[in-house]
Amino acid sequence: MKIAIGSDHAAFSLKKILKEHIREKGLGEVVDMGTDTDSTPSDYPDIAFRVGEAVAAGTADRGVLLCGTGVGMSIAANKIPGAYAAHCHDVETAKLSRRHNNSNILTMGARIIGAPLAEKILDAWLAASFEGGRHAIRTGKIEACENKICPACRPSKHGRTVIFDHPLVQHKVSIIRDKNTPVKTFRELVQEIAGLMVYESTRNLPLVKVKVETPLTETEAYALEGKKLAIVPVLRAGLGMVDGILQIVPNAKVGHIGLYRDPETLNPVEYYCKLPGDISERDIFILDPMLATGGSASAAISLVKEKGGKKISLVSIIAAPEGVARVHEDHPDVDIFTAALDSHLDKNGYIVPGLGDAGDRLFGTK
Ligand code: PRP
Ligand code: URA
Repeated sequence: MKIAIGSDHAAFSLKKILKEHIREKGLGEVVDMGTDTDSTPSDYPDIAFRVGEAVAAGTADRGVLLCGTGVGMSIAANKIPGAYAAHCHDVETAKLSRRHNNSNILTMGARIIGAPLAEKILDAWLAASFEGGRHAIRTGKIEACENKICPACRPSKHGRTVIFDHPLVQHKVSIIRDKNTPVKTFRELVQEIAGLMVYESTRNLPLVKVKVETPLTETEAYALEGKKLAIVPVLRAGLGMVDGILQIVPNAKVGHIGLYRDPETLNPVEYYCKLPGDISERDIFILDPMLATGGSASAAISLVKEKGGKKISLVSIIAAPEGVARVHEDHPDVDIFTAALDSHLDKNGYIVPGLGDAGDRLFGTK
């Protein structure tokens, strides 16, 4: 395990002791991110950001941050999306911050506790593991909030959940939730929402410099690199999103996956799969307006991977925390884009508040 450690001048001596402790006990490989002296003052945010960024980007597995009280380090590190700093001065809190909150940074105060207790807290924190399950649903909500604030900037080592909080998208979602919205309007709005979501979900597509001759001169411009996109709707409801996306990216190839959710077991049943032959070279967007238990989405992603797909994102309109947690657990490499993260699933596996059965509402089959 790679442990990034940092302190300000006030905790420089404690940092030295903890580094030695980690080495002696073989707890991991230490990467010291400063400060390098206690003879001149240093600003804790500089060190906290360095360690926070290393942990969020995955270049370090865990971080340890020390200052006078540990509070400044914790406030500063928690500004970095993907850094989850727990400020702990007792062993039990440290353990629980791992088991329940999946903290990846430990902060402590050199003026508050002595080195022997700091060593005990560090040992317990490094040994404890995240329990997942209901806790993953809760930490997933924190990640979703971070991505809402800064969808594209997160230096993530695992998939992101990005929520589109654009007013136009939110307005249209409020109309499709309404049980009195007629089929025609529902269908049109699902297409419009899918079209608007393309702007954010394609934000990180790679670009390549090209030479262009304008009527005035030759210049350099940027074009999409490589084979570009494939969109893969999950039948039936994913079909409702296809035309909205093709209006913005008309050259995207379209694959299809047929899955339905067994009403008794809620497990997905596959009945069709046809993907573009060059799927391994494309950026793939799997479309399904509803991410409920996540069974269908996870199965669709697995199918695309079996056929060679590599760069995969999931685009939904309404997601439940259970589905988000399932997809991130099964496919940590896949980003989820959604217009809403709802409260929970009911006993039949329907999203609450949700919008009901998306397939039925799109095709008028109820
Ligand atoms: C809906 C929806 C998803 C799935 C989500 O499809 O479009 O594919 O349920 O549920 P999950 O996350 O719990 O798997 P459904 O099975 O109703 O099929 P349909 O689109 O053909 O109506
Ligand atoms: N599928 C739907 O269409 N709606 C839900 O709420 C859950 C699964």
